[in-house]
Amino acid sequence: MTIFVHIINILIFINYIKMKQICGLFVASLAVLASCAKQEPLVIAPCQIWPDNNGVHVNAHGGGVLLHDGTYYWFGENKCDTTSSAMVGVDCYSSQDLVHWTNEGVALAVSDDPESDITRGCILERPKVIYNEKTGKFVMWFHLELKGRGYEAARAGVAVADNPTGPYTFIRSGRVNPGILPMDLDNEEAKARLAEIDYYTYDESKNPQAEEWWTPEWRADVDAGIIAERDLEGGQMARDMTLFVDQDGKAYHIYSAEENLTLNIAELSDDYLSHTGKYIRMAPGGHNEAPAVFFKDGTYWMITSGCTGWAPNAARMFSAPSIMGPWTQYDNPCRGENADITFGGQSTFILPYGDNFIFMADIWRPKHPSDARYLWLPIQFDENGVPFLEFMEKWDLNTFKAVTE
Ligand code: GAL
Repeated sequence: MTIFVHIINILIFINYIKMKQICGLFVASLAVLASCAKQEPLVIAPCQIWPDNNGVHVNAHGGGVLLHDGTYYWFGENKCDTTSSAMVGVDCYSSQDLVHWTNEGVALAVSDDPESDITRGCILERPKVIYNEKTGKFVMWFHLELKGRGYEAARAGVAVADNPTGPYTFIRSGRVNPGILPMDLDNEEAKARLAEIDYYTYDESKNPQAEEWWTPEWRADVDAGIIAERDLEGGQMARDMTLFVDQDGKAYHIYSAEENLTLNIAELSDDYLSHTGKYIRMAPGGHNEAPAVFFKDGTYWMITSGCTGWAPNAARMFSAPSIMGPWTQYDNPCRGENADITFGGQSTFILPYGDNFIFMADIWRPKHPSDARYLWLPIQFDENGVPFLEFMEKWDLNTFKAVTE
């Protein structure tokens, strides 16, 4: 009997040891799994103050982000407290994770020379930087308005640097592709239609009997290209803008032309420093500003805003099988409360992040320009692969989902 009890005890002991080992293993594996799954949340908080490494709100408005050699560089307009004119230039910040930003200082400084196109007090907006693999240079394009002339100059400016953070050297500014018709007007039919109409018909400053704008006839004439033709000699107007580098390394300058009525998509030269003369008109008469572009699964997507100055309006969205079109318009991509005003923001850039895309927009504060906020949101896709945006107070870059505390 005692031997039997001993044997039972020994068996229980062996089982106990085994169970302990198994449990130990189980707990250890759980710990490993938990440590793998436990990533530090990378929280983006739209509309809030976004402190840099010095604890100061990031000052990079109307900007864009460049990923180069594993580091993100955020370029944008330095805005002052009391004016939206450029008193400093373009600021640059760097980051490894898109949440923590180091102020790298002024990448492109405005000039103290009153004769310079970019003299202090000019309007310098929506700078974007791309890297040219062939030349090894960083190229910045921006919207430039000459000092003291409001928004009438409507120029594109270009600057170049050897390092992502700069300093960038200003090269020149001007209207785009002077003397060259857009590809979609460069055919006999379009030219014949243009020959029948005259911009003068609608120019109140030169013609007291000018026809009214915004009538169906006027829209048809804008669509036919009267303003592009008006600007043929001096080059197309270039205001709100973005840059896009395609799969084949070719870069495109996308800007609001024709009095902000029509977008142009213009190919840049191999060194990205000038235009090749190849360009199309997109959504003629559609009044689009603030273009931001991304490419996913063979489709090019563009999100834009309407034209209401610093006040927010409903975003628009387009897609195309090629950057040069044809572009098809979709409904407003925003959903939920305040969708009709893009949650208070205006698009500026779309940043690829792994397989995902981040919509970047500005919440302007024209009375206190430096206090403008950033509206970064994850781009979501519906069952048909069509992008949409929902407002999130906080979201995590690891999951692309809202964070609830
Ligand atoms: C907005 C434009 C801004 C700025 C502003 C001036 O429509 O997107 O970049 O130019 O107008 O009113």
